[in-house]
Amino acid sequence: MQEQIDKYTSEIKAFTAAKAEELEAFRIKYLGTKGIIKDLFDQFKTVGPEEKRTFGKVLNQFKQLAEEKYNEFKESLDSGVKSHDSSQDLTLPGDGFEVGSRHPLSLVRNEIIDIFKRLGFVVAEGPEIEDDWHNFSALNFPEEHPARDMQDTFFVRKGEGNDDIALRTHTSSVQVRMMESGKPPFRAIMPGRVYRNEAISARAHCFFHQVEGLYVDENVSFSDLKQTLYHFVQELYGEGTKVRFRPSYFPFTEPSAEMDISCTICKGSGCNMCKYSGWVEILGCGMVDPNVLENCGIDSKKYTGFAFGMGIERITNLKYVIRDLRLFSENDVRFLKQFQTEII
Ligand code: PHE
Repeated sequence: MQEQIDKYTSEIKAFTAAKAEELEAFRIKYLGTKGIIKDLFDQFKTVGPEEKRTFGKVLNQFKQLAEEKYNEFKESLDSGVKSHDSSQDLTLPGDGFEVGSRHPLSLVRNEIIDIFKRLGFVVAEGPEIEDDWHNFSALNFPEEHPARDMQDTFFVRKGEGNDDIALRTHTSSVQVRMMESGKPPFRAIMPGRVYRNEAISARAHCFFHQVEGLYVDENVSFSDLKQTLYHFVQELYGEGTKVRFRPSYFPFTEPSAEMDISCTICKGSGCNMCKYSGWVEILGCGMVDPNVLENCGIDSKKYTGFAFGMGIERITNLKYVIRDLRLFSENDVRFLKQFQTEII
């Protein structure tokens, strides 16, 4: 028995396998159910107790050697199969990868920011969860103003007066933060997400995006406001787009106006986008109310300013003729991939 084991041991040590079939033959010969090891163990059962003691150990070592040899080649052949698989055609083109596209709201927001940056405006941001002071009180909202009602505002915590915490309903809150913490002149735009408690439909959503703007300095006038916004519209919608201002009301501006542009779809001749009026409203604006300046610690005798605010969804709808606001937040790639993105 010892002789047999010695012979097989040197055979196993010398064994190499270049192919899976060779390894399989090895397995059958030594480790198979009718293989050499099984046979040796059968013989082992018949030997006397003296020999059992010596051969038990020898036989187990032999078995271990065969198993190790087998595993060693199995591993190297398995990994070799992948890199040398003759069924792979290396001349085939590789899998392409899809480049995502920017969201239409981001495209338009970036365009708006670029236009105002060229006029010297900087970008300012602020928190989406706001207190009553920054969202309402500092902006001259009377205590009983309907915009404070539960209907319009998502309150996170209802406290007593100014310790109400809510999701901001406009980014005018960022204007307050900016004026409180700095000194004029201010020339900034505030892009960001805002929230209002509205039922979701094609025309309304419980969150949307705004870009607001603020310009405060000595001698800022309503004509500065008009010229800035006129220039903005020419840049965004093209030369020749008409604008008109209609008197309006906002608690934080006096006088206040809403600005319409000639319908970008029908160019003013009338279509269902502009409800056959030839005009579409795109933003609210006005001269910053002196009360707001004073609330933020700015001398309203010395400084004046203008502010404006627009919804990015509205601007985007007019640019790309999108009629349902819900498309912006549903993440349907068939919609999203229509917007060509510049490679960055
Ligand atoms: N904050 C206003 C809104 O959300 C927009 C606005 C900003 C109007 C600045 C006038 C001046 O509707």
